[in-house]
Amino acid sequence: MSDSEEVKAKLDIVEVIREYVPVKAVGANFQAVCPFHNEKTPSFVISPDKQIWHCFGCGRGGDVLSFVMEKENMSFIEALRMLAAKAGVVLKHENPEKISKRSRLLDIMEIAGKYYAHILKSTTGVKARDYLLARGLKMETIEDWRLGYSPDSWSSLYDFLRARPLIGKKYTDEEIMAAGLIIRKEQAGSGRNYYDRFRDRIMFPIWDVNNNIVAFTARVNPEKEKTEKMGKYINSPQTEVYDKSRVLFALNKAKGAIKKMGYAIVVEGQMDAISCHNHGFDNVVASSGTALTTEQVTLIKRFTNNLILSFDMDNAGQMAADRGIKEALAQKLNLKVITLPYGKDPDECLKNNPADFKQAVMDAQPMLQYYFNKVSADLDLNKLENKMLVRDKMFEMIGLVEDKPEQGYWLKKISEELDFSETDIREEFAKWQANKKPEVNRGFAAEKSEPSIRPLVREELLSELFLSLIIKFPEFISYSLNSLDPEQVYPDENVRFYKTLIIYYNKSASLDYNDFRQYLTENEEGLDNFLDKLILLGEKDYYAHTPEEAKSEIIKVIMELKRYFYQKKIKSLEKEIAAAEKMENSELGGGATMTRLMSELKNSAEELKKLI
Ligand code: UTP
Ligand code: MN
Repeated sequence: MSDSEEVKAKLDIVEVIREYVPVKAVGANFQAVCPFHNEKTPSFVISPDKQIWHCFGCGRGGDVLSFVMEKENMSFIEALRMLAAKAGVVLKHENPEKISKRSRLLDIMEIAGKYYAHILKSTTGVKARDYLLARGLKMETIEDWRLGYSPDSWSSLYDFLRARPLIGKKYTDEEIMAAGLIIRKEQAGSGRNYYDRFRDRIMFPIWDVNNNIVAFTARVNPEKEKTEKMGKYINSPQTEVYDKSRVLFALNKAKGAIKKMGYAIVVEGQMDAISCHNHGFDNVVASSGTALTTEQVTLIKRFTNNLILSFDMDNAGQMAADRGIKEALAQKLNLKVITLPYGKDPDECLKNNPADFKQAVMDAQPMLQYYFNKVSADLDLNKLENKMLVRDKMFEMIGLVEDKPEQGYWLKKISEELDFSETDIREEFAKWQANKKPEVNRGFAAEKSEPSIRPLVREELLSELFLSLIIKFPEFISYSLNSLDPEQVYPDENVRFYKTLIIYYNKSASLDYNDFRQYLTENEEGLDNFLDKLILLGEKDYYAHTPEEAKSEIIKVIMELKRYFYQKKIKSLEKEIAAAEKMENSELGGGATMTRLMSELKNSAEELKKLI
């Protein structure tokens, strides 16, 4: 058995997927609201029997490994490693040459994290340590977050990595650089060609949701805070393992608490997040100084739909108008905003009195209320032009709310606040929306994450049903293959599959799932996944069908497809005949063509008659 087969055999796909989305048993299978695209009714199906999944909304599908690859944005090797750990499988075939570049970078980051943490505990790190303790962090917190210190030197990390024979042999300069830890000198000379990116800074590891260190953010030595030109914090660059917009700081630590408590608090800074956890607010994550990105919102939606934002007071207003908020609304998150009673950020508030922060969390205002207060703050709302201004800004936000009752609630609310008639406001909003529709109703998130899937037209749907039915009920395959020609199936990919099925069936005279799948894997690229999709479609729609019912369904579908085929054929023949007539009149056409067309038309008409 290969590593991946062993891992798949030991894990239950349903249990793995359940960690990402709620799943519900339906017949012999499980269904879920698809985690890969926006939808209301579940079209994501899992077959525990076959250990496969497929979404009929967005077309994605595969096995447990491909699910994790897609969901975690991992390479095959990484997903295998992660699932192997879960399944308790020791990977046999892990060949160092073949380990993906990504996981080698992760290893380098891990070693660097250990190095920096070690330095912080040594005498070199004493000042940095004292500073963190003075800021109120417990030693336990410092260790738990693996905080570190990068010495005031141009090459201490680089030398460390190179001086260790094991590591020196294992990792190249290029790889250490690709991890973002060293920088190449502009003018490479006789000496070292690289220098450390992080020097004399307090190091905060940034993890992905699976506890891998993917980056560092590094705080300036407080003694140099006033003079440092590089900025208070410098961060790892974008690397193969780090995409800033896809990481939420502390989510790896907070995810359990977020699920348990039912909401997450998002702060701006790493120190804010750590300070919050230090005071027992375990459901806090940090956006790392930026507005929330689509990807961050998608990430957090795995754990909760309820977000409370606590951004630095100077930025909060700006944030409110920011794309991040629109993003969150577009992805149907419940958003609230914290107004701190004092202090620049949560960390300062907590240091003064944790109870005040707690109160601020409880008093968090719904996003739209907060936004209303914000945009109307310095305006005299007795003036009509100001009312109109506020109304327009609110329409923008309310337009992003998908929930009708919630939308209604806010329309009522602004009509009250602005002293307009509710009916008038509703009417205006409807007009405003009608003009805006294309942009507003789709939402940024949906636009980005949904592959452009053309809705299936009827004959394509019927073809899909036909294929899934004969796969699910192979006892009718012979009848079916004889009744329907490949040219009567739509569109091209169904035709390709159908032709392959015919070839296979003619060869083996039976249809065994495993054997057929094997055949597809070896001979027809991509069709094995296609088979999985059809299987799940069959299970989803026909799991309760008796063979009797299935048979009449198959007959019906074949009839429909043939009828469509002949109707279409007749139409196109009629066109050809009309064209041929013109030709004949101009004495260029041939009578033979006309005769052939007429006879084909007659045949088709007869065939169609049989079907009605
Ligand atoms: P702040 O400037 O608010 O820092 O930046 P802070 O979190 O309060 O830090 P302390 O309390 O002074 O130590 C908030 C976040 O913005 C990002 C960092 O992620 C930081 O945590 N940031 C800030 C940068 O990336 N670069 C900078 O130069 C400054
Ligand atoms: Mn701060």
